[in-house]
Amino acid sequence: MSGGDAAIATESAVADDFAGDVVRGLSQPVKRIPSKYLYDARGSELFEAICEQPEYYPTRTELAILDDHRHAIAAAVGSRPLVLEYGSGSGIKTRLLLDALDDPVAYVPVEISASALDESVADLAVRFPDVEMLPLCADFTRPLRLPVAAREPASVLVFFPGSTLGNFATDDAVALLTVMRGEIGDAGAALVGIDLQKDRATVEAAYNDAAGVTAAFTLNLLARMNRELDADFDPARFHHRARYNALAGRIETHIVSDADQRVSVAGRRFDFGAGEGVLVEYSCKYSHQGFADMAARAGLAVTQSWTDGDERFALQLLRPRGVPA
Ligand code: AVI
Repeated sequence: MSGGDAAIATESAVADDFAGDVVRGLSQPVKRIPSKYLYDARGSELFEAICEQPEYYPTRTELAILDDHRHAIAAAVGSRPLVLEYGSGSGIKTRLLLDALDDPVAYVPVEISASALDESVADLAVRFPDVEMLPLCADFTRPLRLPVAAREPASVLVFFPGSTLGNFATDDAVALLTVMRGEIGDAGAALVGIDLQKDRATVEAAYNDAAGVTAAFTLNLLARMNRELDADFDPARFHHRARYNALAGRIETHIVSDADQRVSVAGRRFDFGAGEGVLVEYSCKYSHQGFADMAARAGLAVTQSWTDGDERFALQLLRPRGVPA
């Protein structure tokens, strides 16, 4: 299929168990809820707004890196790649990449949400009529059955921008990199965006923007639980807290209770002490060495790295370790 409507291939993607995950998470001694639940329709809208905030440097920095180094990236990737993007396509970043690459054969965004996939390829299909659009409705954290492109690709390029890898705890990030290693085979590569370690003030400002958009994004999870899990959180009695844990190299975001209170969620009751937090997100910040070590655990080596002048963010090109070039 080229240009026109792209049919969505579906694998046996396991639906999220929101109620089960929340009840399990709130029953832990240290309460937590997986960060993927921050992204309902409103949460996704708020995330887009976060990317526009002056304090949130990652998005605009990564875009500038992609733009500034597009020729070098294209040369390193080589011609006729199949581009496999983890997530439903990151709009302008995907466009920049497809525009830069030499004769990309096909574009395969992988995502659980069919509607998000639909949206992501509709515009790209018009802009890139020679790139076959092969959206895949699946869970990218598991091995995929890649769709067969009409033209044979020379290699597979996994594209995972945005430092989304940083939202995974280290062992889960290594597991995901290991899946990537499987997808790219011996000839392929992965282009992964990572946020770099830097001073506390800059990082904490990025997750505590003055306009309060990140706080609204975090607290929207309470509204989502009220709506979808028949919960009775009073959002006015909780606040957002994002602090940099320098030792672990990550922002840890919590929803913090302002008072002792009892809340019912999905037919269960949970007690929150004043000042008690629910961990809702990690945003890991890497050193070059730390990232290379993590990639090595997944059988990958960093072969090239592009950063901005201030070394805030990096696009890392990963290739299988120990495979002769
Ligand atoms: C999607 N992800 C990489 C963002 C981050 O920076 O961790 C999500 C985000 N959370 C708060 N602000 C942005």
